[in-house]
Amino acid sequence: MVCFDRMAGTYDVLRPSPPPQVIEALAEELSDCSLVLEVGVGTGRLAVPLLERGFRVVGIDLSRKMLDVGRAKGLSHVVVGDVCHLPFRHKAFDAVLAVHVLHLVRDWPALLSEVRRVTKEKLVANWRAVEPLSPNLRQVYHESLLERGFQPGVGNRWEDELARLIPPRREARILAYEEETKLDEPLRSLRQREMTVTWDVPEAMHQAIMRDMESRFGGKSQTFRYEMHLMSWAVDDFTDEALAKVAGV
Ligand SMILES: C[S@@+](CC[C@H](N)C(=O)[O-])C[C@H]1O[C@@H](n2cnc3c(N)ncnc32)[C@H](O)[C@@H]1O
Repeated sequence: MVCFDRMAGTYDVLRPSPPPQVIEALAEELSDCSLVLEVGVGTGRLAVPLLERGFRVVGIDLSRKMLDVGRAKGLSHVVVGDVCHLPFRHKAFDAVLAVHVLHLVRDWPALLSEVRRVTKEKLVANWRAVEPLSPNLRQVYHESLLERGFQPGVGNRWEDELARLIPPRREARILAYEEETKLDEPLRSLRQREMTVTWDVPEAMHQAIMRDMESRFGGKSQTFRYEMHLMSWAVDDFTDEALAKVAGV
């Protein structure tokens, strides 16, 4: 399980507030819902602006420390727990929201079966796709692990894979932009093991990969194309057959 306690102090600095277009698109998608459960709510980056727009939002997260940051920002209904074992009654919520969390959960069938149990209407997911216009350092790190015969435990399946397995009712690109980034910052973030792909890598292997990457990419810049996507499934889409398809991958 991927608990973000270690990131609680820096998370809101490293992950900027969502652009207004994202909150706008989520509010529109959830407009027929009142009570929303955000799974992996973290520090409430999305939940707090949704609360401000009048939604009732309950959050669940493995990380007590991330929730503490969220509480200080106004999240009042939060629970420490695992999204695969939701401590809520049958059809308690109108919708479930999942933002940047599905890729951290290994047991998708358990998660989706819990979503189906506690939700009346829909699952809404928002995620950010990064299209590297030159090599993406997270990807380079991941490939270096595979070359060394190491398969990281998290970050292998992304939200778009769920969309391929169970087609959403609605899929929209909310916005797209390009940004030039100095690679020293993502290199620092990788070295400090702030990216989940590094979390279960043995220290000697991590050091060797970082030495190699720092000599190749240190001091350089790279342009990324970012795309923010929204996907929405009706709860009826999560049939036993659909869950079996997800389990079989
Ligand atoms: C990348 S953060 C996203 C937080 C928030 N949704 C956002 O977009 O800012 C992922 C969060 O999911 C939580 N998480 C990961 N696996 C979880 C699980 N199985 N059950 C509950 N929370 C989980 C982590 O502790 C972390 O706070």
